[in-house]
Amino acid sequence: MTEKEIDFHDYIASVPDFPEPGIIFRDISPLMENGPAYAAATAKITAFAKEHGAEMICGPEARGFIVGCPVADRLGIGFAPARKKGKLPRETISVTYDLEYGQAELFMHKDAVKPGQKVLVVDDLLATGGTIKATIDLVERLGGIVVGTAFLIELVDLKGREKIKDYDLFTLLQYEGS
Ligand code: PRP
Ligand code: MG
Repeated sequence: MTEKEIDFHDYIASVPDFPEPGIIFRDISPLMENGPAYAAATAKITAFAKEHGAEMICGPEARGFIVGCPVADRLGIGFAPARKKGKLPRETISVTYDLEYGQAELFMHKDAVKPGQKVLVVDDLLATGGTIKATIDLVERLGGIVVGTAFLIELVDLKGREKIKDYDLFTLLQYEGS
């Protein structure tokens, strides 16, 4: 399959009323499960990372790993995970952020990013922007320089990009409506 033939929308399953009535869940599983489509999608983010001189990729658990690790591997650079509570065994820093209902917390190891290191922060999906902003905050507190953010999907109506307008942004696909 050449890149020209791929419409990435064909590999996103739109699931109505999941996880609750009125929400359309944009499921990236079909993309991951198709080798050429998955490779073509991560190639686009890899090109963006290269253009921005990324020296490290960082992404939040869990779906940020699906996008970020192949990019790091292609570039031969590291991947620094931001993880949920109780997962990282050494000294960490953490940030609390708002979800639609309640709050969540993300952690990174204190030595995951070196001061001055150029970091691309990635995730599968940009919705309200809370998760990516929390990840960016962790990287910056460790002294990393965030050179951009990249996603497979942006849910445009949720206006997450307004939370990260100081950063260059790449989104492969945009969806309107909930
Ligand atoms: C989903 C998605 C993004 C985040 C986007 O993660 O993978 O990380 O929500 O939402 P936001 O822009 O409003 O913060 P989720 O917390 O469901 O967990 P998962 O990646 O572990 O599945
Ligand atoms: Mg996630």
